[in-house]
Amino acid sequence: MARFSAIQYGVLVLIFSTYVVASLTVDMQLEQLRNNYMKLEQVLAAKESRLEFLEQKVQQHGNLEAQITRLVNEMNQMKTQVKRTAELELKVQRQESLLNAVQSESRSHNNVSLRQGTAQMPKSCADLKNNGHTSNGMFLIMGVKMVETVFCDFSKPVTDPSFQKWIGFADVKSSPVYFHAQRIGNYGAANTAIPFNQIRLNVGGALNPATGVFLAPKSGRYIFLFSGLSWDSNAKVQLQMKSATGDWSKIGEAHCTPYNTFALQSSLELKKGDEIRIIHIHGVIHDRDGNNFSNFVGLLLEEDVFGC
Ligand SMILES: *[C@@H]1O[C@H](CO)[C@@H](O)[C@H](O)[C@H]1NC(C)=O
Ligand SMILES: *[C@@H]1O[C@H](CO)[C@@H](O)[C@H](O)[C@H]1NC(C)=O
Repeated sequence: MARFSAIQYGVLVLIFSTYVVASLTVDMQLEQLRNNYMKLEQVLAAKESRLEFLEQKVQQHGNLEAQITRLVNEMNQMKTQVKRTAELELKVQRQESLLNAVQSESRSHNNVSLRQGTAQMPKSCADLKNNGHTSNGMFLIMGVKMVETVFCDFSKPVTDPSFQKWIGFADVKSSPVYFHAQRIGNYGAANTAIPFNQIRLNVGGALNPATGVFLAPKSGRYIFLFSGLSWDSNAKVQLQMKSATGDWSKIGEAHCTPYNTFALQSSLELKKGDEIRIIHIHGVIHDRDGNNFSNFVGLLLEEDVFGC
């Protein structure tokens, strides 16, 4: 019995211990599972926070990407601006050097000694171009007899019809010639040139007041006007001209009854050295009372400055 009991006891112990071990094992396993579960939770929590962190990172990266794109755009814009600035600088440099060239050109144009570098008088825009003119404008050139004005367009080829445009004659006189003469006192010497003893103007000194003879100082076109009053009888006067080699000849004649006006006018082509006078043929020219009745006027209209 005792053995049985012992066996029984042994079995019981075994069963018990098995049970203890078994129940221990289950507890431990539960504990382990719990531990594992907690660990898993921790890991999951860590993963989750890591995920959040990564999500934030991704978002930050997204923001960074946008910023980078913006920066790249800005940089490209700046690059364009830098390029444009460089281009502008180049342009300004070119314009500055052009301006310098133009200024030195205009300085040399203003340089009298340079302008007189050629003894050849220009007769056309082509001559002016050869003399170094480059700026378009109105120029004086040497015509056949007179100075002429032309417009030169140096941007055109010399053969272009609009390279030179004729504007007109330039009223250039080597020096002015005009006079206005009057008389004080009656004049009655028949067939003599009327002298003048009251001179208002005698620019160029071509009229000799004492002899009443006008001597053309240069070739050209002149105008002469004379008027006067007769005294107490009929009077007659003539405008006469004499060439350097020829004799005196009548250009015009005028006469009138007592106390009336006689008048003479003429425009004439004269050569240098030709002469003009007013001849008193008969009667008496009235300038007795200081009224300035007699008036002799002459002037050079156009001068042949070349070719004579
Ligand atoms: C004008 O030109 C002459 C001849 O080339 C030169 O000697 C002179 O220095 C120049 N004068 C000026 C003011 O440029
Ligand atoms: C005639 O001209 C002279 C000179 O200019 C002048 O002194 C005089 O008063 C003039 N005669 C008259 C009547 O105006």
